[in-house]
Amino acid sequence: EVRRPFVAGNWKMYKTVGEAVELAQNLVTETNGTVNEVVIFPPFTALESVAEAIDGKSVGYGAQDLCWEDEGAFTGAVSGAQIADIGCEYVLVGHSERREIFKEDNEIIAKKMKAAYRNQLKPVLCVGETEAERKQGATNAKIEGQLKSALAGISAEQAKLLTVAYEPIWAIGTGNTATAQDAQEVCLFIRKQLNEIVGEDVARHIRILYGGSVKDTNAAQFCINGIDGVLVGGASLKVESFAKIVRSF
Ligand code: G3H
Repeated sequence: EVRRPFVAGNWKMYKTVGEAVELAQNLVTETNGTVNEVVIFPPFTALESVAEAIDGKSVGYGAQDLCWEDEGAFTGAVSGAQIADIGCEYVLVGHSERREIFKEDNEIIAKKMKAAYRNQLKPVLCVGETEAERKQGATNAKIEGQLKSALAGISAEQAKLLTVAYEPIWAIGTGNTATAQDAQEVCLFIRKQLNEIVGEDVARHIRILYGGSVKDTNAAQFCINGIDGVLVGGASLKVESFAKIVRSF
């Protein structure tokens, strides 16, 4: 199998530096020996301290966002070059909270994808539909548009480094997890799209994750054909629940 299972924890805007370092170190201990790839996404303020504490250990780390430019007058933004400079391997791109709350459109996200690759960061591209879009039967069309615009101009070698996270917006932070069958259906659709966009030989390297109210009590059900891992928000903030998810996937 070319695709190693991937369990990611997005800490969003939680944790002081001290709390973040402690959680990261505990995760290294508690997930020791897993065959899965484990990656955490701490907030920017804690990223360098976490990097220093766990660099070279079994848990990887990345940033939750990046700017599309490498430097310049962009007050408040952090660039891919800066993220790469502190040793990050991954970066989340197009998380629905960036898209919805911070009004990032497909065009901005496409530029962020290029910035990630330009700085040797592996993007985790998030896609997903709102509840209204699902009810209208527009889920696949939305996701197809998100994938096509984010991958325009991306080379085959770059695409091999991609991870896609399917996160239905109605399932994020709500406790309304998608059923394993719904998640699987969309993840298989994403794979079909990737096969068309970059070709099957490249696409088979790309992992597809499910995210949205994944907990230690339901994570195992997503360990099915078509789903290569999970992107966990709330349940990644405690070592007990996240380590359990890592072990159960
Ligand atoms: O990036 C993570 C997702 O937004 C899921 O968050 O597990 O709190 O629903 P959640």
